[in-house]
Amino acid sequence: MTGALSQEELEQYRSQGYLLRNSVFAPEEVDSLVAAAEALYRVDSPARTVERDGVTVRAVHACHTSSDVFAAVIKDPRMLLPAHQIVGTDSVYIHQSKINAKRALEGDVWQWHQDFTYWHWEDGMRAPNAVNLAILLDAATEFNGPLLLVPGSHRQGLMDPARRDSGAGPESWKNHLAADLEYTVQVKDLAELSEESGIFSATAPAGSVLLFDPQIVHGSGVNMSPIDRRMAIFSYNEVANLPVPPGDGRPKFLSSREAAPLELAAWTG
Ligand code: SIN
Ligand code: MN
Repeated sequence: MTGALSQEELEQYRSQGYLLRNSVFAPEEVDSLVAAAEALYRVDSPARTVERDGVTVRAVHACHTSSDVFAAVIKDPRMLLPAHQIVGTDSVYIHQSKINAKRALEGDVWQWHQDFTYWHWEDGMRAPNAVNLAILLDAATEFNGPLLLVPGSHRQGLMDPARRDSGAGPESWKNHLAADLEYTVQVKDLAELSEESGIFSATAPAGSVLLFDPQIVHGSGVNMSPIDRRMAIFSYNEVANLPVPPGDGRPKFLSSREAAPLELAAWTG
C-alpha cells in the first residue's frame, strides 16, 4: 500500500465525513508506537492530562514534538498522502496531536462534539481545511469505548454548541480535554442527525487508521473492558490556514504555532 486514497475512498470520506482503513500499520510497527506512547505517559508535564480520579492518564498532547517515533510516523506516506489528498495541497502541518489512553476500566467518556468548535473559537482557525488521522494502538471493540461518529454530520458545518459554564480563566483550556467538555453538541441536534443517519462505531484491529472531518459529530463512551483503547490522533491543517489566535491563544501543545510543511519520508517502525 502506498498510502494514497483511491477515488472511491476519497468519495466515501467526502460524503460520510470519515473513512476507516483496516490494519494499515503492521503489528511490529504498532508495538513501537505503543512503546513510545507509554514512555510519554510516564512523563509528568502540562501536556499530559488525567481522568477524574486524578491518577489515571487520559491523554498526552503534542506527541509529534516530544517523541522521535511520532515525529516520524506523521510523515509516512500512509499518513501524509491521505492528508494531502483531503486537504487538497501538499503544504500541511500538524495543528494538534494527542494520544488518548482510554485505559482499561478507568478510561472516561468523550462527550459528543465537533473539533472545529475548539479550533475555530479557541484557536482562531478560519476554515475547516484540515483532517484528523487516528491510529488505533489497540483493537477498538464494542466494549472498550470505540470512537462513535454520526455519518454525514460534517455537512452541517459548525453548529451552535451547548456550553458548560466553567468560567474563563487562564487555564480554561483544561475544560477542553476533560470528561466534562466545555462545548458539546446539543441533544436536539444529535437526536436529529443520528435519527437520519445512525451512529457509526469505529471498531477495528490495532494498526487501523480512522480519518475524520474536523466538523463531524463524534465522541466515545467509557471503557468497560479490561483492555486499553489507546489511539493517537494527528490533526493535519493547511499551512495557509494557520490559526491567528485571539489574544495569547491556547498553549502550543494544543494549538501549534509552527507551520512548516511536512516532507514525505517513509517510516519503517
Ligand atoms: C476526540 O474526540 O478527540 C477523541 C475521542 C476518543 O479518543 O475517543
Ligand atoms: Mn474530537
